[in-house]
Amino acid sequence: MPTYETLLVEQRPHLAYVTLNRPTALNALSTGLRRDLKQFFTDLQGAREIRLVILTGAGRAFCAGADIKEWRESSSVTDNRDGRQQLNFWDAMSRCEQPIIAAINGYALGGGCELAMCCDIRIASDQAQLGLTEVTLGIIPGGGGTQRLPRLIGRGKALELILTGKRIDAHEAFRLGLVEEVVPHAQLMSTVETLAQTIISRAPLAVKYAKEAIVRGLELPLEAGLKVEAELYTLLRTTEDRMEGARAFKEKRPPQFKGR
Ligand code: CAA
Repeated sequence: MPTYETLLVEQRPHLAYVTLNRPTALNALSTGLRRDLKQFFTDLQGAREIRLVILTGAGRAFCAGADIKEWRESSSVTDNRDGRQQLNFWDAMSRCEQPIIAAINGYALGGGCELAMCCDIRIASDQAQLGLTEVTLGIIPGGGGTQRLPRLIGRGKALELILTGKRIDAHEAFRLGLVEEVVPHAQLMSTVETLAQTIISRAPLAVKYAKEAIVRGLELPLEAGLKVEAELYTLLRTTEDRMEGARAFKEKRPPQFKGR
């Protein structure tokens, strides 16, 4: 994979390990970091050998949100709109076919919390703090927070968190369903890597289509979602990996999946 100014991308077998790398600014989303994230998720579309992404932050934060120090007097509406579009990594990220696991190692605030919510599975260190703090700065979440948070934790709690802008600790985030698991800080990366390896060991096309069925289905009424599932399920019935899965089961050995 290419290199990036503000992102460390380590490619391991089937896995991209991505670290937001502006630790002195708590990995705030500067123009450069937004551009790199957009480029990374665009580059990933052609990287079929990568089956899973782990996203984390360097230092003591996952991501402290928008880079507030970059904020200037507002330009015209059209300049604003064009600028936002150029740096819009959210779309590329939400179109990502590979599962993305957020390893939330510390603060995930504002756009940083939205970044975590744009991932598929969130594992948090017990030192993490999360929150959509935008109203404390005179804005509202603009990276999907007003839409993704209520879908994850329900309308009332989402309103409470967004309207107060308060920060919650990792245990509270777990209780609300904002993160899937909380682990002692020192075990964060090993927990995430074990999860990643388990997913990678499964049939690649089945993993890909399972994510697609869930992500597309969540936007649809149940009946239409079930049709998406049926279509993808039927496609998987034609794969070599399906027969390998059955053979391995009968022969009592681990399957050798080929992604075909
Ligand atoms: N933007 C720019 N710099 C930031 C930053 C941010 N969002 N958050 C932290 N930093 C910088 C600090 O300015 C400081 O830099 P200096 O050493 O040069 O002063 C450095 O990172 C360390 O931060 P603190 O000294 O503040 O560390 P702390 O431990 O005392 O506090 C914190 C940590 C609670 C996260 C605090 O830094 C904070 O509240 N940051 C802002 C978080 C926030 O509200 N983010 C949301 C922004 S709005 C948004 O995200 C909207 C959007 O995308 C659409």
